[in-house]
Amino acid sequence: MTPSEDVSAPTRQRCGIPVLKTERLTLRAPCDGDVATLAALANDRRIAENTLRIPQPFGVAEAEHFIDSVNRRDGETCFAVALDDALIGVCGIDPREDGPEVGYWLGVPYWGQGYATEAVRAVIDDAFGRLDHAMLQSGARVSNPASRRVLEKCGFQWTGVRLCRIRAINSAAPIDRFRLDRGLWASLKSWGQVKRVA
Ligand SMILES: CC(C)(COP(=O)(O)OP(=O)(O)OC[C@H]1O[C@@H](n2cnc3c(N)ncnc32)[C@H](O)[C@@H]1OP(=O)(O)O)[C@@H](O)C(=O)NCCC(=O)NCCS
Repeated sequence: MTPSEDVSAPTRQRCGIPVLKTERLTLRAPCDGDVATLAALANDRRIAENTLRIPQPFGVAEAEHFIDSVNRRDGETCFAVALDDALIGVCGIDPREDGPEVGYWLGVPYWGQGYATEAVRAVIDDAFGRLDHAMLQSGARVSNPASRRVLEKCGFQWTGVRLCRIRAINSAAPIDRFRLDRGLWASLKSWGQVKRVA
């Protein structure tokens, strides 16, 4: 089995976005039916202040604009993360000039149960499999150990610290930067399939 075959099978297309299934989660294109839940979950400073682009406050108008824009933007790969059909967060890849950037957030009631790691791993598999990216990058505020840990559990390696603008605080903050190369991802995936015999 090649690493790319290990991606949870895409089963349905909407706006070019496949449906990815993991053990507990479904990742699919955000849709109009997500607006109310998206607005309720994202309207939280703990989320906005740890992501680059989420405005605060975040209401129904912002949720509608977000869904419309991510489904229209060329090259954007944005998944609604759903548990039992209900949206619990967002995870995706932003096509930046300096390389594709993985971003994610979950509603606070869903923190601490491994859901972010599960969702990010599915997006990584899709990025290296279906999308054929050579590398991925991501970042976490230096004050955000949970996000750093998610990236480490997904195989990302720290590359340094950079100042980035965070919309919700209208200011820049230091961000730990991470990178995951295709070769390392393939190695980690194949290592998991090796059985020790003694
Ligand atoms: C970061 C975020 C996505 C994590 O979601 P989650 O579902 O709780 O993450 P997981 O459960 O998969 O993994 C979290 C890991 O961080 C660890 N962690 C949590 N809080 C921690 C802390 N204060 N210090 C150190 N480690 C911590 C957890 O123990 C877990 O690691 P483990 O599995 O080794 O025990 C969520 O907190 C969030 O949405 N935050 C706001 C937005 C954000 O930060 N987005 C990421 C930036 S793009």
